[in-house]
Amino acid sequence: MKRKLAAGNWKMNGTGADLAELARLVSAHPDPACEILICPPATLVHRAAGLSQGGTLKIGGQDCHAAQSGAHTGDISADMLRDAGASHVITGHSERRQDHGESDAAVRAKSEAAIAAGLVAVICVGESLEQREAGQTLAVIGSQLEGSIPDGITGDSVVIAYEPIWAIGTGKVPTVEQIGEVHGFMRDRLAERFGRSVAGAIRLLYGGSVKAANAAEIFAVGDVDGALVGGASLTAEDFSPIVAALEASS
Ligand code: 13P
Repeated sequence: MKRKLAAGNWKMNGTGADLAELARLVSAHPDPACEILICPPATLVHRAAGLSQGGTLKIGGQDCHAAQSGAHTGDISADMLRDAGASHVITGHSERRQDHGESDAAVRAKSEAAIAAGLVAVICVGESLEQREAGQTLAVIGSQLEGSIPDGITGDSVVIAYEPIWAIGTGKVPTVEQIGEVHGFMRDRLAERFGRSVAGAIRLLYGGSVKAANAAEIFAVGDVDGALVGGASLTAEDFSPIVAALEASS
């Protein structure tokens, strides 16, 4: 059966002292009924993986280069993340699409590299406020899915995260109807391209201002298989109730 996924993206936050939060998280969920993934900054991936207690807690990167190695100063390859103990990597987060000009083609190439290295690619899509207000949400999501997801994926090799840009870090959350509409659309699009059985096995996460107070209502939406959480994943105190809400919905 498909395991739901509670994922935390620490973004550019955290130094060694914050690893204590991971130890707290692991002890709060020794035998979780869902998967738990934390994507700390690259500097902490190796140490975080050492705390993962036989794999109960999965550790991921926040980005990877599309190439295996080479003259790319400051970049990190999927193989390097894997070597450091990561099992997942986020690709195509809107902050990378915006801050680093990453196109759908670049996100696809990174996702291919991740899968080739044996990592699960957590591929992010999401519309801007202008696009939503112009009624373009489904068209934008459809073309991001088409351009960013590699061919030949399996239900295990990718996770898709729907993160409306206007909901990230703003405290604004789409209605459950809006989340359900996009997630249902994504499932249908994936089924058209990869077939019903692969599409049904892919975890679809919602991300954008998920907190303990709204988690249960979001997890009750059809086709929501978990969350990608930013700010509320930085401490065990904030993230643990979100994990518990997902466990309760599993
Ligand atoms: P917030 O949960 O802080 O809104 O961030 C969401 C996000 O971007 C996770 O990748």
